Amino acid sequence: MTTTAPLCSRPEPMAGPMNGGPGSTYGRPLVNAHCRQFEVNKWALSEFVVRRLLPVVGIHPFPLDELLLLSAAVCRLRPRHIFEWGTHVGKSARIFYETSQWLGLGATVHSIDLPDHVSHVEHPGRERGRLVQGLASVRLYQGDGLAIATALGRDLAQEAPFLFFLDGDHSEQTVARELCGVAEAFPDAAMLIHDTFYQSPESGYCTDPHAAVGNFLARSPGRYTAITAATGLPGMTLLFRKDPRPVLGRLADGSSPQGET
Ligand SMILES: C[S@@+](CC[C@H](N)C(=O)[O-])C[C@H]1O[C@@H](n2cnc3c(N)ncnc32)[C@H](O)[C@@H]1O
Repeated sequence: MTTTAPLCSRPEPMAGPMNGGPGSTYGRPLVNAHCRQFEVNKWALSEFVVRRLLPVVGIHPFPLDELLLLSAAVCRLRPRHIFEWGTHVGKSARIFYETSQWLGLGATVHSIDLPDHVSHVEHPGRERGRLVQGLASVRLYQGDGLAIATALGRDLAQEAPFLFFLDGDHSEQTVARELCGVAEAFPDAAMLIHDTFYQSPESGYCTDPHAAVGNFLARSPGRYTAITAATGLPGMTLLFRKDPRPVLGRLADGSSPQGET
């Protein structure tokens, strides 16, 4: 049997590096913004990851698929404020910053780590926020991530949408507290959670974040869509509300997403 319909739609590289979208040879990063399913142009985002993110942040702690998920979440959900903890040296904060800059979103990144006097196995000490020093749209705070982000978010409630990135302490109890805290305070917010890979017990891996996310979703049936980068450690999960309103807003080049009126 022959068919003339293409089996899938593949944007081909365009003539120049800036044609069709912000810094992409593969067209606009955001596609089908008027449709209900989460979708981005993965070729455009891959090019961004390779050219803009890798030279700055490398592949640790975020391997390629997680760099793609982090930037895809920003591209698709278009947050005005991103709240994240912990800051550590500032890799995730820098990723959010670079993605927002690339897309012309103007998002503010609020990045929180523990105070200097608090002991934590991963506390960055003097290295805190090194990769985001001096960036005007990245603000650094010290304290408990959930407490500070909740207080900031309440003050900024008129400036949704919000995206939260949970990458602080990875105990099941902590992650569960943070998921519930964000969902209660900001029911429409999207959440990214790091270190959510699951492996069976003989691996000896810490699967606390995976368990916390599973329990959270079981208690909120039908409320969130989950997208996971789960082919190996460390793993990342994106949770966002089902049936979100269509993504509206201007793209960096001044044009409208398809379907916007
Ligand atoms: C895995 S590192 C985060 C890596 C960081 N996102 C990056 O991209 O470089 C964990 C960080 O969370 C911080 N942390 C732990 N518990 C926290 C809490 N309750 N609030 C804020 N930060 C926390 C630690 O001090 C540490 O810097």
